[in-house]
Amino acid sequence: MRAIDGRVECGYNEGKTKRKEIHAMQYDFTTVIDRRGKDALAVESIGSGGWGANPAAPKEGFDPIPMWVADMNFATCPAIPKAIIERAQHPLYGYFTPSDEYYNSIIAWRSARGYTDLDRKYIGYENGVHGFVTSAVQTLSAPGDRILLHSPVYVGFAADVEGLGRTSVYSPLKRDEAGVWRMDFDDMDRKLKENHIHLAIFCSPHNPTGRVWERWELERAMEVFEANHCFVISDEIWADLVFSGRTHIPTIMVNDWTRAHVAAAYAPSKTFNLAGLVGSYHIVYSDYLRDRITAHGAATHYNEMNVLSMHALIGAYSREGEAWTRELLQVLEGNCRFACEHIDRCWQGVEAAMPQGTYMIFLDCTGYCARTGKTLDDILHAGWDVGVAWQDGRMFEGPCHIRVNLASPLSRVQEAFARLDRYVFCE
Ligand SMILES: Cc1ncc(COP(=O)(O)O)c(C=O)c1O
Repeated sequence: MRAIDGRVECGYNEGKTKRKEIHAMQYDFTTVIDRRGKDALAVESIGSGGWGANPAAPKEGFDPIPMWVADMNFATCPAIPKAIIERAQHPLYGYFTPSDEYYNSIIAWRSARGYTDLDRKYIGYENGVHGFVTSAVQTLSAPGDRILLHSPVYVGFAADVEGLGRTSVYSPLKRDEAGVWRMDFDDMDRKLKENHIHLAIFCSPHNPTGRVWERWELERAMEVFEANHCFVISDEIWADLVFSGRTHIPTIMVNDWTRAHVAAAYAPSKTFNLAGLVGSYHIVYSDYLRDRITAHGAATHYNEMNVLSMHALIGAYSREGEAWTRELLQVLEGNCRFACEHIDRCWQGVEAAMPQGTYMIFLDCTGYCARTGKTLDDILHAGWDVGVAWQDGRMFEGPCHIRVNLASPLSRVQEAFARLDRYVFCE
């Protein structure tokens, strides 16, 4: 950063310096890959209107930089295409049952990440985490029921809940003096009581704030749920994407009560960029909860695994997958740090808490709008016009917010921020 005529220059040398801090990488997180024509919603749906509030197409002269849908603009770990191709080369794809290797891969991966006594019988395939959430919502609540969630909220939960004829009740997260998003336990307790709520959807780590809940926070939250006889659907799809100095604690592992009352969902999709392959799974220790939820999925016959997705998971949850994930995390954390430092220094009135995991940042533009008289729509559209395909935060219950996906090569993130400096946050 340099001062010019008393002004701060918001240049990009700082990003390049950061890049040097990242140790020599074995895997490629710098190549900018053209995803056009390769089944990529993140690219192809820009400008299509469609699905809620997709980013509008850029004006001529600007190429789109996808910073919305939660997938990554990195090639996945090479062990995954290798596993898929090896299986695909055996040209019979008949009915199958998930292999021992599939269950053992999940047990090994999750046991290295917080589970102490994971057993195969607790694990089951889920056709997407949404599939699991909707099965669990249907078995653990009745139409007309209210369900507790935190806001900001992952947009998909709201759709799951409302789509099933239930109502979302939000307990807002609040930023503390240090700017860290925290749960408000009193508010949760009050809302559960006032609304006679007995089911919560809990997101850990939390999308879109990037919070990785600490043990004491999980304990307090679970105490509140226990006191209100509330089952918990714990969406832990982001569990592997946790930055340095943080540890993801599986909700089920918190205490004896959570073992009996929490149903959790995971997937290799966020970690390894496999959403297009579909291959999530549940971990449910309680026989009662598991039987009820799986009976629902089984009754529809829609909850069947694809053999290539099984092999993708086995390739992912491997030694090479571990090494690749370690490098990915350095890149994601570096990108988030670059973005947050830049925002802090250059965009007066915009606030973003440094995420502790995931690859999302959630910009609060309230101060900026108040200072400049611009609206959130002005800012969003000004970004879309110059190809920054970021996402309207109102869908996530952020009234003056924008969600930004930073899972791209740093050069693309820097390019996006350069455009935002020049054309958007430039009064
Ligand atoms: C918290 C959370 N849950 C679930 C999903 C989607 O899961 P799936 O693609 O397995 O249905 C996402 C995707 O962004 C997410 O952020």
